[in-house]
Amino acid sequence: QVPAETTLVILGATGDLTRRLLAPALYRLWARGHLEGLRLVGYATSEWDDARFAQHLEAALREFVPEFDPSVWERMRGQVQYLSGDLSPSRLAALRGAVGTKALFYLALPPDLFGLAAEGLGQAGLNQEAQGFRRLVVEKPFGHDLTSAEALRTQMHRYWREEQLFRIDHFLGKETTQNLLVFRLANRFLEPVWNAQHIAQVQITYAETLGVEGRWRYYDRAGALRDMLQNHLMQLFTLVALEPPSVWDADILREHKVEVLRSVRPISPNQVDAHAVRGQYIAGSLRGQRVPGYLQEAHIPPSSTTETFAALKLYVDNWRWRGVPFYLRSGKRLGADYAEVAIAFREVPTRFFGEAPPQHNWLVFRTRPEECLELWAWAKEPGLSLRTHSLVFEAPYQRPGDTSYTAYEQLLLDALQGDRTHFLRFDEVEWAWRILEPVLGAWVQGQPESYPAGSEGPVGMGRLMDEGHAWRPLG
Ligand code: BG6
Repeated sequence: QVPAETTLVILGATGDLTRRLLAPALYRLWARGHLEGLRLVGYATSEWDDARFAQHLEAALREFVPEFDPSVWERMRGQVQYLSGDLSPSRLAALRGAVGTKALFYLALPPDLFGLAAEGLGQAGLNQEAQGFRRLVVEKPFGHDLTSAEALRTQMHRYWREEQLFRIDHFLGKETTQNLLVFRLANRFLEPVWNAQHIAQVQITYAETLGVEGRWRYYDRAGALRDMLQNHLMQLFTLVALEPPSVWDADILREHKVEVLRSVRPISPNQVDAHAVRGQYIAGSLRGQRVPGYLQEAHIPPSSTTETFAALKLYVDNWRWRGVPFYLRSGKRLGADYAEVAIAFREVPTRFFGEAPPQHNWLVFRTRPEECLELWAWAKEPGLSLRTHSLVFEAPYQRPGDTSYTAYEQLLLDALQGDRTHFLRFDEVEWAWRILEPVLGAWVQGQPESYPAGSEGPVGMGRLMDEGHAWRPLG
């Protein structure tokens, strides 16, 4: 339940994020009774009134919520209001009359407007917490590189204290992400082997068949490294690698994550090619359909060198992880929708087995195509020899009847309730940029390697692999 008389203001309320993700999440929270009494104010430049905005929301819900129920919408609709205006303090000041003492402002805006919006709200006095609270949710990406992230932080801190800022990374609201830590810490047999003595490598993959999907304006400036690795995959990486926190506490958890990032061995500028690979898709065939290359997509400049695939190898120079490579990769228009965190244990001594000895065990946290846990173990192959064969223990993560929340539902509720555990502290963002700075610097020049749409990615990604390692196939 959110505190009574809370107002959620969405800036950018007529945009795509609101339509596809925020509105459905709010609807579901309403349907489950979490948001009774919440007031929702949409704010954007379109000169709409309350009724027009409500119509827009309803259309979005009918499109994106399969279980849409008009009676839930009726309850929600009664709490919805709309104000039009730009980000100037004088227009934003109109929000003062629409919010009470408890307000959460959600910046569902293009990234280059985050600073302006935070400043505008501040200048309009909407940051001041006399009683109650004023909070600001900021979407990713937070900055375009280290310098711009620092500048954005300074700009925001002029009006907002760090405790008022909720930097969202929606992967932190996903069930499987949270389960990474829970599964590791809840099972006695894992922690003793969760280190370089027993783990050989970790692979974190997020592969999509989707292309840029009309997001060219943002995507062509961002690219895969900034869109997926700097934030989402880096977060998954810290959750695998961190030292176990002893209590569930926002600051302790985030402290431990930052410690991992600070332990990453810096990539020296002349080593970038050994640690990072970029690719861009060309025309190819995806599930039997011909699809165009990135440069043929609408609005993409024909000379664009934006990467649509990025892979990275990181080492964590601490006692727990010394020498263990963490491989991260993500790409658009790959052959499958496939996402997982896969942990490979070192091989056992194999002399005992003769032919067909066991290889390493994999423990896999998979999110796509469905959420499940998988453990690859080796057992005796029935017969007269000591040959081994692999047994795969697979457990679907959700059981029938489980209630789960989507990432945006969970994070919206957390922000409304003031829980910052699943939001990023500035130093997490900062260190993630620091790690990538040399790569971003090197990639200003040269070209990404081509890979056909529908493939596993650029062939060159193989060069990141340490001896004896290979990328896992996408499904
Ligand atoms: C977003 C990226 O943050 O995450 C997208 O900008 C990507 O490019 C998306 O498709 C993936 O998230 P999800 O929730 O669909 O797994």
